Amino acid sequence: MEEEEPKAVKSNLVLILDFGSQYTHLITRRIRALSVFSLCISGTSTLQSIADLNPAAIILSGGPHSVHAEGAPCFAPDFIDFVESKNVAVLGICYGLQLIVQKLGGEVRVAGKHEYGRMGIEVDKVEGLFGNKEVGDKQSVWMSHGDEAVRLPEGFEVVARSHQGAVTAIQNRDRGFYGLQYHPEVTHSPEGMDTLKYFLFDICGISASWKMQDILDEELKVIKSTVGPDDLVICGLSGGVDSTVAATLVHKAIGDRLHCLFVDNGLLRWRERERVMETFERDLHLPVTCVDASEQFLSKLKGVTEPEKKRKIIGEEFINIFDSFAQELKQKLGKEPVYLVQGTLYPDVIESCPPPGSGRNHSHTIKSHHNVGGLPKNMKLKLIEPLKLLFKDEVRELGKIMGVPQGFLKRHPFPGPGLAVRVPGDVTLGDHLDTLRKADEIFIQSIKDAGIYDNIWQAFAVFLPVLTVGVQGDQRTYSHAIALRAVTSHDGMTADWYDFDHKFLADLSTKICNEVTGVNRVLMDITSKPPSTIEWE
Ligand code: XMP
Repeated sequence: MEEEEPKAVKSNLVLILDFGSQYTHLITRRIRALSVFSLCISGTSTLQSIADLNPAAIILSGGPHSVHAEGAPCFAPDFIDFVESKNVAVLGICYGLQLIVQKLGGEVRVAGKHEYGRMGIEVDKVEGLFGNKEVGDKQSVWMSHGDEAVRLPEGFEVVARSHQGAVTAIQNRDRGFYGLQYHPEVTHSPEGMDTLKYFLFDICGISASWKMQDILDEELKVIKSTVGPDDLVICGLSGGVDSTVAATLVHKAIGDRLHCLFVDNGLLRWRERERVMETFERDLHLPVTCVDASEQFLSKLKGVTEPEKKRKIIGEEFINIFDSFAQELKQKLGKEPVYLVQGTLYPDVIESCPPPGSGRNHSHTIKSHHNVGGLPKNMKLKLIEPLKLLFKDEVRELGKIMGVPQGFLKRHPFPGPGLAVRVPGDVTLGDHLDTLRKADEIFIQSIKDAGIYDNIWQAFAVFLPVLTVGVQGDQRTYSHAIALRAVTSHDGMTADWYDFDHKFLADLSTKICNEVTGVNRVLMDITSKPPSTIEWE
């Protein structure tokens, strides 16, 4: 499998070297929100991979380690020489600051444990990092109390201290090294973004010129130059935002040499197939073949109850269908497809690459889909992943400038294994899937009618395969329960349950019990992630 690394947007790039902080990707996002392209790579990346990216500035992230610990991650040897010779300014945050101090000859004292907390700081000097402030200005910051810089390397000065006198910001302007002991990127540091902006725009002279149109132009160029003039490309469409935007982009680049496939696996929502096919054809003019493989999937899932096994079967079946699709194309057009388009996003890439020093080669598998690389090892198709540097909100923006309808772009995410992970246990029993579809549709339609769909990251019903007693129309019933789940989230990695109005819930529960045969109980899931996950399986 080959990956095409977009040579994208290489001027004005801010490179984040990741040392494992939980906030590293927030820094990336914050900088992009300032119209500056930023990328995050492992803190221990080779000098060559850093040089290849030609960064205009480098940020060393925080991390859970102590610089004194054995195996503590560090930037490449010669990194200091490299940045100085290229005149690239470096900002170290927390652990990043300590690395700078230690590697440039200062002293870092080990603290017993790592704590976080709000802290007041005061500006000491206004040349450099706090150039837009006044001496004596106070601000509140989110501090990472870990090891402490007790002696600065030669030529460094303290530019801010905590109210207790601890060093919170340092710099050596001549050599281009800056450090903050706190997290400027989190909202608990209200003026942190000011400092970050000052570093990028005033100190580094970076211009805020990155636009989504640049990504579009660059990706079109890369796809056109990668895919040979007669090469065929295939793409599986899920009906979700990512695969649709990826396919639309590739279609723009190579036209009808792109062949898309939409598979009805029998695990889709109410009228999903009709709805998405209409958008593909009517709004996006995408060449899409629709395959009804419900029987094929459901027969393989019969009797299977273990969640990961269900996922595996579904994944394998998708691949079988893909293979047949590729073979059919070969027969029809006399050529085998060469490329496969995937809507992989940046968080998927990041989640699969654990930070250095974490002792892991791969993120712990919470659910199998979270790891990129769930494709067959012997797959001959080469991958095109045009969204792999983008966050979800950026993909929506890219879709928007390509004319993908807004309503479509705002769709809630839907898992690849579909309703199989929303019917715990055997999905093929009785009318479970149909019952779920009806209840789910009522839930989603009510949310849309209430005008709150866009406030919610994801909402869905879950079929509970338990029978409970009820009384409906003077009759004792022994029917199923439906659970409703709605969450807010930024990226699906953590989530909070959505707090509906009680009247809304009361009406909804009545409607579901009245209109969906076989349901006599409605429950609301009020668990956040963690400790739960968003899906029930
Ligand atoms: P969890 O349940 O892990 O979900 O908190 C996080 C996000 O991922 C989606 N999800 C999946 N997506 N295949 C997918 O393509 C899957 O197997 C899968 N499981 C969960 C989930 O809907 C949520 O948006």
